[in-house]
Amino acid sequence: MNRRIAWITGASSGIGYSTAKKLAKQGFDLYLGARRVDRLDSLVKDIKNSCDVRALSHELDVTDKDSVQKFGDFGFAKQLQPDVLVNNAGLVKGIDPVVNGQEQDWDIILNTNVMGVLRMAKLVLPYMIEKKNGQIVFIGSIAGHQAYAGGSAYCASKFGVKAITRSLKQEVLGTNIRVNSIDPGMVETEFSLVRLGSQEKADNVYKGMTPLTADDVADCVEFVVNRPRHVNIDDIVIMPTDQANAFMVHRSEP
Ligand SMILES: NC(=O)c1ccc[n+]([C@@H]2O[C@H](COP(=O)([O-])OP(=O)(O)OC[C@H]3O[C@@H](n4cnc5c(N)ncnc54)[C@H](OP(=O)(O)O)[C@@H]3O)[C@@H](O)[C@H]2O)c1
Repeated sequence: MNRRIAWITGASSGIGYSTAKKLAKQGFDLYLGARRVDRLDSLVKDIKNSCDVRALSHELDVTDKDSVQKFGDFGFAKQLQPDVLVNNAGLVKGIDPVVNGQEQDWDIILNTNVMGVLRMAKLVLPYMIEKKNGQIVFIGSIAGHQAYAGGSAYCASKFGVKAITRSLKQEVLGTNIRVNSIDPGMVETEFSLVRLGSQEKADNVYKGMTPLTADDVADCVEFVVNRPRHVNIDDIVIMPTDQANAFMVHRSEP
């Protein structure tokens, strides 16, 4: 039985949710965070009913440093010391070009996707460094490789995530800590609903093409955490077959 402990941020939906289920099946004990605690509660219940692992959750808002601290305090108090952090919580709001950009959208995007992943990494690193073992899996994006119109703040945030993974890999060299970046193209989750604010608009994003599923990305997380300890997968770029890059998507006629 795998007795490693994984902390997963943004486990109430999408990639984080699927990753929790997959790692539970692999025998990981789990500590799950997000703002929607009702969803976390039902996920924990579901995992406990189907897998012989420990699973706990706690409210987490990665934009709030006190919330991050409370999340950490609770996890350590419950003896759920992290072997793995899946630094996944993230979002985007809107598709406005810079000229019409909303200051409050930029704040939310950058505070969640950049400050949030930094806060979470800082929370677990002292423990991992002392133990000389650990792994942080960042969920980046193709938007961290190619910037597209209407995505300035989001692309900036994911280029930022890429920079953080590069810096961190150098900073922890010699500690046995592994640092991974998994960078998907289009994945059908609640991501587009959060971005566009309506289910109809979100459905249109995937019209005529086959996007990735959250499970496809969770498979990559499962892969990187199950490599031997001397193997660090630096980056995985995972795209739908129907998507060539951040700009080109093949759609079949209706
Ligand atoms: N879907 C895509 O096409 C795509 C492509 C490339 C990369 N990604 C990245 O994949 C990651 C997961 O997104 P997803 O596609 O799974 O979208 P999703 O279904 O909307 O899930 C996002 C998760 O992040 C959590 N979250 C958002 N803000 C948070 C905050 N302030 N504090 C704590 N948790 C927060 C949400 O939980 P609560 O709302 O309950 O807090 C939710 O669990 C993100 O980093 C995203 O940028 C997605």
